[in-house]
Amino acid sequence: MKSACRRLAGKTLGFVPTMGALHEGHLSLVRASKSRCDVTAVSIFVNPLQFGPSEDLARYPRTLDRDASLLQELGVDLLFAPGVDQMYSSSAKTYVLVDELSNKLDGASRPGHFRGVATVVAKLFEIVRPDYAFFGQKDAAQVAVLRKMVSDLNMDVELVVCPIVREQDGLAMSSRNAYLTPEQRRQALVLNRSLLAIQAAAEAGEYDTAKLIEIGKQVIAEEPGARLDYFAIVDPDTLDPIPDVSRDALLAVAAYVGPTRLIDNVVLASGPKRSNSSLRR
Ligand code: PAJ
Repeated sequence: MKSACRRLAGKTLGFVPTMGALHEGHLSLVRASKSRCDVTAVSIFVNPLQFGPSEDLARYPRTLDRDASLLQELGVDLLFAPGVDQMYSSSAKTYVLVDELSNKLDGASRPGHFRGVATVVAKLFEIVRPDYAFFGQKDAAQVAVLRKMVSDLNMDVELVVCPIVREQDGLAMSSRNAYLTPEQRRQALVLNRSLLAIQAAAEAGEYDTAKLIEIGKQVIAEEPGARLDYFAIVDPDTLDPIPDVSRDALLAVAAYVGPTRLIDNVVLASGPKRSNSSLRR
């Protein structure tokens, strides 16, 4: 992969890191890269380092053949799908930890998760050395962690963040949606519904974070199939809580539907036209 990526003299290289089980969310990143860059590389690697001991590493969906043909149809130039042994030597001692940020939002519920993400993305960046790397707003905390890593380590790559792709009914696309039974699939809509309720309240003039979070919690509580992990209204860069939404705010939710942990978010933009269409169809 290194030598393939080093032979592109003068061409811009776009890179889309994924864990596979590709859906339209991933493919939107590929299309963004294709439209911006001369050459597009995709990686598929289910990274053990970012899964906790009681998480779903073993059952995470692996559909490499199908993924590879989808990427071929889209005209992806390079696919990197290494095995675990190729990515990690058993004697490895080096990790990338983005301090503080890695313990917020999903990092608080998933200890070690963002250390695993930052380490693998740093390794992938070094292998591929892309000009641009494409990430989804779906994983807003991941974006904040990786932005900080790139800035702190003077990495020569520009991160491009693409909007959340949703199903027709508003459910944010995720490889983990494949775990949901039809009943849970319906219950999972509560995440999006809770964000819409908070967004509507903010648009109606409620700026107080604590009150907005209460509104979201109410909506989640009305769905017995869902169990809230967190609601957060934070600064999108630092992931620190903010007292009110008079400036740009990341509104993020994580909840369990059955055993499956799902996340969703929306950015509440400040300014006179307080609207954000990313939740709407
Ligand atoms: P994965 O969950 O496979 O996601 C790969 C990329 O697709 C991420 O940037 C994610 O934010 C984006 N994505 C997922 N669902 C999306 C949706 N509905 N709309 C838009 N983008 C979406 O995120 C990871 O893998 C890993 O942590 C990785 C960065 C590959 C490191 O292992």
